[in-house]
Amino acid sequence: MNRIAIAIDGPAAAGKSTVAKIVAEKLSYIYIDTGAMYRALTLKALQSSLQLEDEHPLVDLLHFTTIELRQSENGQLVFLDDTDVTAEIRSQKVTNNVSYVAKHPEVRKEMVKRQQVLAEKRGVVMDGRDIGTHVIPDAEIKIFLIATVEERANRRHAENVAKGFSSNLEELKKEIEQRDLIDTKREAAPLIKAEDAIEIDTTALSINDVAEQILAEVSKVM
Ligand code: C5P
Repeated sequence: MNRIAIAIDGPAAAGKSTVAKIVAEKLSYIYIDTGAMYRALTLKALQSSLQLEDEHPLVDLLHFTTIELRQSENGQLVFLDDTDVTAEIRSQKVTNNVSYVAKHPEVRKEMVKRQQVLAEKRGVVMDGRDIGTHVIPDAEIKIFLIATVEERANRRHAENVAKGFSSNLEELKKEIEQRDLIDTKREAAPLIKAEDAIEIDTTALSINDVAEQILAEVSKVM
């Protein structure tokens, strides 16, 4: 059977990674979380006390940085220069700063290059903001997931509470809106639906419903 590439884009907390993991598992494909790559660089930049507004130091830092997504029994692990940072990259500090790092064109150029190498052999489900538009513009399946900001904040809040993390619904909503604003308004590869992407509004759908819809699209091209 031919192996394809599936690009899943959309705003923050729209359920992209959860759905992408299910789809990848069903197809025995590799799941690639491109947001984790921007988050890992952001973590290192913060640790190095870089000014996130300055592009060149960030690009230099990235050139001396390895970011690896390793599959494990417990899901995907993120390694920054061989250190496991899977949990750290989800911190509030990284979340609130990542969009400032991701808006620099030269940072994106290098990240896209690395992501394209990962997608080269197909058999991938990749999620992010610019996968269908820039990273794999020839992906066989492109999905654009959306949901109301209230629903996305509610889901994040429920996840946090389930994990025993402190969580404030109103703050989450503001953080999501702020991140969407920066991601949508940036000049380099802004968050936008690819012309040939299928938009799915997940507001009233379960994760499994969304995964089923994507798998139905996949079966049409395989
Ligand atoms: O997917 P996640 O919410 O973890 O992504 C974190 C941030 O990384 C996004 O808000 C966006 O600024 C950036 N990002 C991006 N392009 C991607 C993936 C993520 O700009 N392909």
